[in-house]
Amino acid sequence: MSKHTISITKTTNPKPRPDENNLVFGKYYSDHMFIMDYDAGQGWHDPRVVPYGNISLDPAAKVFHYGQTIFEGLKAYRTDDNRVVLFRPDENWKRLNRSNDRLSIPAVDPEIAFEALCALIDVDREWVPSAPGTSLYIRPYVIATEPQLGVSPSTKYMFMIILCPVGAYYSEGLNPVPIHVESEYVRAVKGGVGNAKTAGNYAASLKAQEGAAALGYSQVLWLDGVHRKYIEEVGSMNVFFKINGTVVTPALNGSILEGITRKSVLQLLRSWNIPVEERELSIDELVEAHRNGKLEEAFGTGTAAVISPIGALHYQDEKLTINEGKTGELSSRVYDTITGIQRTELPDPFGWVV
Ligand code: COI
Repeated sequence: MSKHTISITKTTNPKPRPDENNLVFGKYYSDHMFIMDYDAGQGWHDPRVVPYGNISLDPAAKVFHYGQTIFEGLKAYRTDDNRVVLFRPDENWKRLNRSNDRLSIPAVDPEIAFEALCALIDVDREWVPSAPGTSLYIRPYVIATEPQLGVSPSTKYMFMIILCPVGAYYSEGLNPVPIHVESEYVRAVKGGVGNAKTAGNYAASLKAQEGAAALGYSQVLWLDGVHRKYIEEVGSMNVFFKINGTVVTPALNGSILEGITRKSVLQLLRSWNIPVEERELSIDELVEAHRNGKLEEAFGTGTAAVISPIGALHYQDEKLTINEGKTGELSSRVYDTITGIQRTELPDPFGWVV
């Protein structure tokens, strides 16, 4: 029996579910959501599954003014034998609390978070899609709700989870995208909040993303905030490059988000005995590798897309085409293996799926 009593109120007005073959990321939400409150002195309390719907907050709630908020992202999958499984949720709870700590938000007990998620998915089980390539995207988050305009940590919070059936990120398989190397704006700096999954990082990225889109590029490649020299991330994903047989990804330096897909890709590559390096990688080194024909593949990693191959980099009026703009062999192998493990279609030697 559960240690935590999660109350459950079911909707009396279930929504029609969207067509599983036409799911758009972040557009449809399930019938229920999870909420738990925090008050200083009382701690986290009142965990509950309730019908999905608007919430009421005081206009002075700190989240609106000072961005004291964090979020997570993970997925649930429906297996061929009709079970529902999660990919590495323990890693999400760990990161949630690292982000909480950085934003001066009280920790959430990982056990309660997991039980909450299981209770919510249990109620909305029918919302886990089964069509090929689909999954249920899970968005846990914490918001500061105290109505108080002083710049200080909130004394009240809400921890919430919402669910969203999503389709395959790329409808026609892996699709390499062109990327603009951003030299004006930066995403984060060491000592800031770049390694926390907090709203401000994503708000700060929008201007650069708009600029890249206007130039015809899908996303930006972020360089470090001090030297504008070292590669950090691509869009909202971690980034990997295969250079002369070795896979290189920027080392976690405080301004880079500790991606769970990043961690999984590194584990996988090492298990295949592919040389892997986590280190500083400058844009100059990358351009040089491209000139010498040694830049073999590039791809982003994240929960939403899993793997996103990079077909070209636009840097200082030059277009560096990678692998003739095609999806590389390693990108495909990593994608097939991780998605195969997630869907329990392949063995899970790492124990990632629960
Ligand atoms: C991811 O899953 O790759 C992300 O972080 C994107 C998310 C903010 C939609």
